[in-house]
Amino acid sequence: MVTPRSNRSQLLLPISTTLLFASSIFLLSGQAAARDFSFVVRDYILLNCGASGRQLDKYNRHWTGDIGSKFASSLSHNTLTATAATQDPSVAQVPYMTARISRSTFTYSFPVSPGRKFVRLYFYPADYSNHFARDSRFAVTANPGNITLLSNFSASQTARVLNAAYIVREFSVSVQRGFLYLTFTPTRGVPNSYAFVNGIEVVSSPDFFGSEILTIVGLSSPYTVDETTALQTMYRLNVGGNAISPVDDVDLFRSWADDTPYIFGAATGVTYGQDANVVIRYSKVPDYAAPKEVYGTARSMGPNPSINLAYNLTWLFSVDPGFVYLVRMHFCEIQYPFTKINQRVFSIYLNNQTATQDADVIAFSGAIGSPVYRDYIVIVRDGTEQQDFWVALHPYPGTKPEYYDAILNGLEVFKLSSWNGNLAGPNPVLVAQ
Ligand SMILES: *[C@@H]1O[C@H](CO)[C@@H](O)[C@H](O)[C@H]1NC(C)=O
Ligand SMILES: *[C@@H]1O[C@H](CO)[C@@H](O)[C@H](O)[C@H]1NC(C)=O
Ligand SMILES: *[C@@H]1O[C@H](CO)[C@@H](O)[C@H](O)[C@H]1NC(C)=O
Ligand SMILES: *[C@@H]1O[C@H](CO)[C@@H](O)[C@H](O)[C@H]1NC(C)=O
Repeated sequence: MVTPRSNRSQLLLPISTTLLFASSIFLLSGQAAARDFSFVVRDYILLNCGASGRQLDKYNRHWTGDIGSKFASSLSHNTLTATAATQDPSVAQVPYMTARISRSTFTYSFPVSPGRKFVRLYFYPADYSNHFARDSRFAVTANPGNITLLSNFSASQTARVLNAAYIVREFSVSVQRGFLYLTFTPTRGVPNSYAFVNGIEVVSSPDFFGSEILTIVGLSSPYTVDETTALQTMYRLNVGGNAISPVDDVDLFRSWADDTPYIFGAATGVTYGQDANVVIRYSKVPDYAAPKEVYGTARSMGPNPSINLAYNLTWLFSVDPGFVYLVRMHFCEIQYPFTKINQRVFSIYLNNQTATQDADVIAFSGAIGSPVYRDYIVIVRDGTEQQDFWVALHPYPGTKPEYYDAILNGLEVFKLSSWNGNLAGPNPVLVAQ
């Protein structure tokens, strides 16, 4: 399943196991300086809250305990550290079994290089000494920028609804210079409320969101994602393939999930991998857009044109109400005979609106094996609860293509911060059966 990585990745891997426990490590790319797409990992911090010393996680990455850490130097004195009372079988020891906890506000400070960072927050909503999981409710803000990442957040309620034991929340924020501050504030007016966190990860990323003017689907008005926009990753899927762990996406340490649970309806299409003679070569997008494993697998509709014309290949997601979303769809033709324009042309519908009528991956990418992605902006209406979010593909017969079919290799859905810097949605609620 694991395909050979780029030279840069091979350079990173051995270093990551020995050096990457510290902050602000500067790694030099092995690539030629002239390469436009070069991106150098600058900050890589893994902070194990409520722990001391260094620990390895299940991927063999080094985490540093926050006890005595410079990142914890601005913590107020009224925080405490605790170990989870129970360990769910699905929960890894590091970073989940220890936590930093407080009934009042506390702040971590991370000295980082300028630019975009992925901030990943790890939560295991267990009982911690006399702090009960169900009582915890808090906000998290990121500064500079005063971005509200979470508000009145109940990790325990969220985990229950998602049927998960632990929760990872991934955000992307820009830091102009100096420090990234993360502040945890218990919700006022809720009895016994407290804030907690088990792990914090900060990793530099390229500014790969704001490169072009995008169109709002269904409105055809322009939209720009500038560097002050913060994002939350809602979904990141390796369509038609297996889950990809953070250490198999080594520059950015992203996790990619299997898309199967999100397929809507009985018509799930077909999944496949790349032809043995196809080589994935990045020419239209940088190689950090997504790993080769994402482009090297796909889902399409199937071999029968009349069946394909009768259905939509559809994914269904749940998203927070009243936000703007950036949908990034990754494409790559990886099987013969798809090498020419107008062989496979399809429509893309986002929330039942036409995003592209006649998508043609070869027209986008120029060649078989050449990865591309397309970004779309979708506005989701306001409400008090999570909303459905539909992604659907359908053959487009209008150009008389050779095949009536559609393809998708990867999908990312990002929530964009509102005008006042808010990214926090409501806690999900259990739907009565
Ligand atoms: C930060 O944002 C919150 C929520 O939007 C707001 O209530 C608060 O006044 C802001 N603080 C500053 C210093 O801008
Ligand atoms: C926090 O969320 C709970 C439900 O999840 C709600 O009952 C409560 O009113 C909320 N509190 C605030 C201050 O928003
Ligand atoms: C596919 O989805 C679009 C947008 O929601 C809809 O207009 C169309 O009727 C659907 N087609 C089929 C065959 O379900
Ligand atoms: C969008 O399409 C889906 C599937 O066809 C349908 O169930 C849903 O009600 C539609 N939503 C809207 C807002 O039209």
